[in-house]
Amino acid sequence: MAAKILVILLLAAASPAVLAAFDVMQMLADKPRYATFSKLLQQTKVAGEANQLRAATLLVVPNKFVKSLASLPKDKLRPAVANHVLLSYFDPIKLDEMKTKTAILPSLLSNTDKKLGVLNYTRADDGQMYFGAPGASCAAKLVKVVAARPYSVSIMEVSEPILPAGFTSSVAAPGRRGKGGKDKIKPSGAGLEDSKMVARKPGEGVRGKVTKDVGSESETAAPSPGPAPF
Ligand SMILES: *[C@@H]1O[C@H](CO)[C@@H](O)[C@H](O)[C@H]1NC(C)=O
Repeated sequence: MAAKILVILLLAAASPAVLAAFDVMQMLADKPRYATFSKLLQQTKVAGEANQLRAATLLVVPNKFVKSLASLPKDKLRPAVANHVLLSYFDPIKLDEMKTKTAILPSLLSNTDKKLGVLNYTRADDGQMYFGAPGASCAAKLVKVVAARPYSVSIMEVSEPILPAGFTSSVAAPGRRGKGGKDKIKPSGAGLEDSKMVARKPGEGVRGKVTKDVGSESETAAPSPGPAPF
């Protein structure tokens, strides 16, 4: 009898729900700035997979720059979202401690696609840290730490989605064309936002300011003065 109970207890302890030491959805719950990304994490079930990892780093994208990811077709959405979850704990200090200035880091996508599921991490000469798909330019800038529990899980904001090779072209184009921005074409999430800004009324100064701040590290590293709580 006692042995039976013990077995049941051990089984319960080994079940995934109990093993999960962190809950990324919960860590993002009070952060409306990443609401769209959170929704994608849940919708694609990548959140659940991330929670099963012994250690993880989530690279999250704020709502207004997430479009090139959110607008992917269903079959590409899950792999692309999974590509934002690194399989180890990283924070800026740990990244800075790396001996090399650039490294190929496996993402959750590598579990299903070894070739696509890696990120190219690069530290620029000015100390800025970037992520990108290997072979593409490292365009997603590390903006700030959103939440961290050393050394199991960290959530960091990046300036734009990090799409696996071949995931971008057909998706970003219609959005840009749709906004009629022939003048401001940039192959990045920031470019999409710029087009949106053009369509916006000039009176909306606050959004304009926030967008501009993304360009400089000192501004964005500080808690934003906007409604997003940190
Ligand atoms: C990683 O990114 C850096 C900077 O963009 C680039 O110089 C390097 O060639 C990239 N490495 C790979 C394997 O793509």
